[in-house]
Amino acid sequence: MSSCSPTNLPPAFRLNQMIMSLWVPQVIHAAAELGVADVLAGGPLPSSAVATRLGTHPDATERLLRALVTLDLLAPSGERFELTEMGRCLETSSPSSRRAWSRLMGGPGVWRAWGRLTDCIRTGRMAWGAADAAASSGTEHFDEMARDPAAAVIFHQAMVELTRGVAPGIVGAIDFRGVRRVIDVGGGYGALLCAILEAHAGVEGVVFDLDHAREGALQLFASRGVGARASFVAGSCFDIAPPAADLYVLKSVLHDWDDARSLKLLGKCREVMDDSARLLVVEAPAPAGPCERGNTALDWVLTFSDINMLVNTGGRERTEAEYRALLDAAGLCVKGVRETPSFYRVLEAARA
Ligand SMILES: C[S@@+](CC[C@H](N)C(=O)[O-])C[C@H]1O[C@@H](n2cnc3c(N)ncnc32)[C@H](O)[C@@H]1O
Repeated sequence: MSSCSPTNLPPAFRLNQMIMSLWVPQVIHAAAELGVADVLAGGPLPSSAVATRLGTHPDATERLLRALVTLDLLAPSGERFELTEMGRCLETSSPSSRRAWSRLMGGPGVWRAWGRLTDCIRTGRMAWGAADAAASSGTEHFDEMARDPAAAVIFHQAMVELTRGVAPGIVGAIDFRGVRRVIDVGGGYGALLCAILEAHAGVEGVVFDLDHAREGALQLFASRGVGARASFVAGSCFDIAPPAADLYVLKSVLHDWDDARSLKLLGKCREVMDDSARLLVVEAPAPAGPCERGNTALDWVLTFSDINMLVNTGGRERTEAEYRALLDAAGLCVKGVRETPSFYRVLEAARA
């Protein structure tokens, strides 16, 4: 190991690096919010031209671009700045775009919520909503989107960014024999449903989600050429049962909720399921115990995603055994678990 290996740095220095790393997502967020990558998509530009196109302060823009060079999102090209391969992932139209995800994570709502983490650890409650537990609905994060359509668009687009790349692998792991109608419960704009309908021409599908996802979902269905077989039903999965179908898919939905809310929404699905219907929980299960937590990228993501759920929605990441127990408590029996090429796993359940 070389003497300048990060693990040989003094502990206080390494800690300091982590403390200061809060600057990183905000630099990326500012670039995403302003649309720096879209401006540079046509080729390298000097900072003054970037500032002119963005309508931003020239000196501050130059300093932002230099920080983006440090993060390997931009590279200097003489007096100009150009996008690196990673920087191109901030372009709006990139198939690997993370622009909306950055705008969500670094935006005012989530950023403010993370700033209240200490309170969340003290109380065990999420940062959104009433300080008084009795006055909290537990759904404040999503309620807020109904009042702030721009924030809703960023949230749902961020989910499309995170789901569309893994969706074909998830679809490939599902058995569609005998399936004519699929409900994507909490499907957002329907990135997973679109992949299902693209792969299975004889299937029709419905996204069942809150009304703030409707317009974006209909636009995505049309842009993916599945509009004739896809529809949107608005409603809260805690209050009304989804439409009847052969297959119910819940991707990245249960991890948003505590056990009580998860049981309520699973119960609403169970209400309309007949004996042949299947319900699929698509999640990335957490490692089985603290001792099993290693240092892999997946463990890192799930450990911090667990805190993100605590802070933003009051939910949690669960182990496969915990998902099984939840389904069991909802009167659903797990028939099988399928791996996918990504870290998502598909737990397939039917009425017990
Ligand atoms: C983490 S996102 C997952 C979106 C999508 N399934 C995916 O994986 O890309 C959670 C989804 O649940 C939806 N949701 C939240 N509360 C809901 C409710 N009460 N009823 C129906 N959907 C809800 C949100 O609008 C959002 O689309």
